[in-house]
Amino acid sequence: MSALGFGCWAIGGEWRSADGEPLGWGRVDDDESVRAIRRALDLGVTFFDTADVYGTGHSERVLGRALGKHRAEVVVATKWGNLFDERTRIRHGQDDSPDHVRRALTASLRRLDMDHVDLYQLHISDAAPERAARLRDICEELVREGLIRAYAWSTDDPARAAVFAEGPHCTAVQHRLNVLQDAHELLALCAESDLASINRSPLAMGLLTGKHTAGRSLENGDIRNAPPAWLPGFIADAGADPAWLRRVDALRDILTSEGRTLAQGALAWIWARSPRTIPIPGFRTVLQAEENAGAIAKGPLTAGQLADVDRILGR
Ligand SMILES: NC(=O)c1ccc[n+]([C@@H]2O[C@H](COP(=O)([O-])OP(=O)(O)OC[C@H]3O[C@@H](n4cnc5c(N)ncnc54)[C@H](OP(=O)(O)O)[C@@H]3O)[C@@H](O)[C@H]2O)c1
Repeated sequence: MSALGFGCWAIGGEWRSADGEPLGWGRVDDDESVRAIRRALDLGVTFFDTADVYGTGHSERVLGRALGKHRAEVVVATKWGNLFDERTRIRHGQDDSPDHVRRALTASLRRLDMDHVDLYQLHISDAAPERAARLRDICEELVREGLIRAYAWSTDDPARAAVFAEGPHCTAVQHRLNVLQDAHELLALCAESDLASINRSPLAMGLLTGKHTAGRSLENGDIRNAPPAWLPGFIADAGADPAWLRRVDALRDILTSEGRTLAQGALAWIWARSPRTIPIPGFRTVLQAEENAGAIAKGPLTAGQLADVDRILGR
């Protein structure tokens, strides 16, 4: 599997919460998404992360369509735990009940047009640990039945991730990691429990690409234009947070060393941080796919650069 995966949240297009807040990244062109995925395959990317709820099923459909006959060459991860209406494109709740796991998996396999999922991830980051233990055991049953190969929890809480880690076929934890937001405890857990660290928001939701400015609002259907409490770095109707942009600027010289673009440098920091990391940057275009896949050949930052980043950020 490639050291880099592609995150398929944005290519789900627009969807909303029951109270009308945007949960997607605005409009998308499905044909461009398909071209971007196929370009990623050409460039050696063999890992794709989606979720049933991204675009209320749309992301899974687009990914399945793009992969087509290349299915056997790649590792496909999806997630369960949210309830949504595909027709109205509204997410209306969550379900951590044992019955829901099989129901959700059946629906995901149908949308992906696949007979198994390689990595099945619990998408309720704060689910109760005792309920999660039961879900972990159901995932073991699904592995035995050949419907999934392995499973993980998408959570930033090491104690919760440790509950899943007890299962023999739990192979990873998905958590936030980027040069502005480190994750010491989760990386320690991955080392102790022999788990892969799959890194969401590796580009700090686009802040680490250098294209965002303060004071410029984003598209109406873009979650970054109406950021919920868990999404720092952007201000409602006002684009990027100036304090975050100053931190990105301070790191620019290190991240753009050896001919890297800023986004490639952000991925290089993640690989330097731990050999277990697998960043999964989001994308919407072929150009983004090419730039992000181009980071693989340039490799990780050096240990010295890692230390310089910590010094600059006062860590
Ligand atoms: N709870 C969870 O399980 C969870 C939560 C969050 C994310 N995830 C997963 O992690 C993936 C990635 O995280 P993320 O979506 O939060 O954000 P991210 O990867 O930090 O940022 C991705 C965004 O940055 C922009 N971008 C990417 N490459 C670029 C490039 N080369 N040049 C310029 N702009 C570029 C694109 O947005 P624009 O073009 O619109 O700027 C893209 O959608 C998601 O797709 C999803 O698979 C999981």
